[in-house]
Amino acid sequence: MARPDNGSQRTVMVARGAPLVRVEQLSHVIQTRAQRTVILDDVTFTVPAESLFAINGPSGSGKSTILNMLTGLDRPTTGRVLFAGVELRAKRENALARWRGRHVGIVFQFFQLIPTLTAAENVTLALQLGGGGGVPRRRWRQRALECLTAVDVGAYADRLPSELSGGQQQRVAIARALANDPPVVVADEPTGNLDSQSAHAVFETLASLTERGKTVIYVTHDRELAARASAGIELLDGRVVGSHGMEAAFDSVAPAAPSAEEAGQ
Ligand SMILES: Nc1ncnc2c1ncn2[C@@H]1O[C@H](COP(=O)(O)OP(=O)(O)OP(=O)(O)O)[C@@H](O)[C@H]1O
Ligand SMILES: [Mg+2]
Repeated sequence: MARPDNGSQRTVMVARGAPLVRVEQLSHVIQTRAQRTVILDDVTFTVPAESLFAINGPSGSGKSTILNMLTGLDRPTTGRVLFAGVELRAKRENALARWRGRHVGIVFQFFQLIPTLTAAENVTLALQLGGGGGVPRRRWRQRALECLTAVDVGAYADRLPSELSGGQQQRVAIARALANDPPVVVADEPTGNLDSQSAHAVFETLASLTERGKTVIYVTHDRELAARASAGIELLDGRVVGSHGMEAAFDSVAPAAPSAEEAGQ
C-alpha cells in the first residue's frame, strides 16, 4: 500500500481483501439513573482491506455510534475493535489520537471545513494536526494540491469554502481526509446534505479511493448507495440484520503481524 509519492511512513500491511478491521461482539449501553439504553447489541463484522464497505440502516439504528468505535472516538461497553490485528482499546488516549491521525481520515455529513481557511489551507491544517504523514513542512502545500487534484477540486485550492458548492466542499473534505495518507477513510452520511447529482459525484469519488489502496467505510441510510458497496452490514435498532461481501475477507490470506511500533502503541 506504500505510496511512493509522499514518502509517508506506512503503518499497516494487509493484503487487498484480507480482514483489515474486525469488530467483535460490540455492545454499547448507556446507563443513567432513570434508564438503561442499549445502543449497540452484539455487533460483529469484518471490513476487508481496500473494500468499499457500507454501514446502512435507518436513523437511530447506531451507525454513527459504530463509526465512533471504529475510529476510537468512543469506547464500547463490551466487545472489541481490532485494526490489522491490534486492539484499539488497549491503546492509551495519546497513542489512540496519534494512531487516528495516521490511520483514519474522517469525512462528515456537513463537511466541517474551517470557513476562514482556503481549500488548500484546510488540507494543510490536517497535515499539521496529523503529523504531516511523513511529508516535510516545505512540501505541505504541494501535498495539499495533490490531494485536491486527486478528488477533482485542484482548481479551487485558493477558494474559501463559502465560494464552493456543497459537492465541491465535500470533495475538499475528502482531500483533507487523505492528507496524511491513511489506509482507511470513514464517511458519515457524506452525501446526505447534497443534491442527487453532487451526491452521485461524491460517492464515485469515495468509491474510486479503493483503487488507490484505501479502505472506505461509509455510513448511509440510502439503500441504493449501500447496495453499491463491495461489502457491508445493515443495522436495525443496534443489531446487525443483514450483511454481504465479508466472506471475501476470510477467503484471503491472514493479515500481516502488526509492526513492533504498532503493537507497542
Ligand atoms: N449519549 C447518548 N445518550 C443516550 N442515547 C444516545 C446517545 N448517543 C446516541 N444515543 C442513541 O443511540 C441511538 C443510535 O444513535 P446513532 O447516532 O448511532 O444513530 P444513527 O444510525 O447514526 O442515526 P442517524 O441516521 O440519524 O444519524 C439513537 O437512538 C440515539 O438516540
Ligand atoms: Mg448518524
